[in-house]
Amino acid sequence: MKAADLFNLTGRTALVTGASAGLGLRFAEVLAANGARVALVARRMDKLKDAVAKIEKAGGTAIAVDADVLDRAQMNRAFDQVEKAFGTVTILVNNAGVAHSTRAVDLSEEEWRRIVGTNLDAVFYWAQEAARRMLAAKQKGAIVNIASVLGFGVSKGTIAYSTAKAGVIQMTKALGLELAFRGVRVNAIAPGWFVTDINRDYLTGAGAGLTRDIPVGRFGQDGDLDGALLLLASDAGSYIAGATVVCDGGQMVALRG
Ligand SMILES: NC(=O)c1ccc[n+]([C@@H]2O[C@H](COP(=O)([O-])OP(=O)(O)OC[C@H]3O[C@@H](n4cnc5c(N)ncnc54)[C@H](OP(=O)(O)O)[C@@H]3O)[C@@H](O)[C@H]2O)c1
Repeated sequence: MKAADLFNLTGRTALVTGASAGLGLRFAEVLAANGARVALVARRMDKLKDAVAKIEKAGGTAIAVDADVLDRAQMNRAFDQVEKAFGTVTILVNNAGVAHSTRAVDLSEEEWRRIVGTNLDAVFYWAQEAARRMLAAKQKGAIVNIASVLGFGVSKGTIAYSTAKAGVIQMTKALGLELAFRGVRVNAIAPGWFVTDINRDYLTGAGAGLTRDIPVGRFGQDGDLDGALLLLASDAGSYIAGATVVCDGGQMVALRG
């Protein structure tokens, strides 16, 4: 078997949430470059349209879909729109996420709900809807949830985010268990630190020294998640279900010192 065939996504329809920036934008580009028709979902249409133009210029097929992952009606409309354009979504990348830096005692109910709602509740609703539609259409597929190393460990000021990401890892196991025998594989990627809008101020400022705790000696960069994504989304991952692949430059296994 040739690698290019094993990872080939020609004929698949992929939907990436949070594809207007950062990791999600890269995921959309990589899926398109490997043959999938890709729907890029987020709230900032201007950025999505730029991304679609870039993908099309590179020879790919993509559409921009305006939706807030917290809104169930917008979610249903998004799936309908993608289905109409490209057919049933058989690859979902559940990537949209938001972070916070508030300590537990200061965290408002509103902020807790926004963080847990986006990073956990929405991941479930979008995975559930994608799976329902794949099963109804008798199609096999793959769901890739984006967790975090903060789903395993914690750092100060991340209580809602870490709790939600730990939930994503457990949810991935539960969905993987329930759906694998029906042909829908559910897995997750747990990235370490990648400099994006979600953390740029911190990682390029007070947190810059965190690279000392990363065995490969740097933060993650464009391309470092491509392999994990393609593995889990394609037939190369056909016997992987309920797993979380950690991509963190060795950070989680390294003790300080
Ligand atoms: N960067 C890291 O170091 C890192 C590490 C571990 C895990 N992660 C995870 O990776 C994922 C992507 O993060 P990133 O670093 O790429 O962050 P980012 O650059 O801030 O991008 C976040 C994306 O999520 C979208 N989004 C946020 N809330 C949304 C909502 N309510 N509805 C629709 N889209 C929404 C944003 O689009 P709009 O604003 O246009 O809607 C944007 O496209 C997140 O799940 C994050 O937790 C990141």
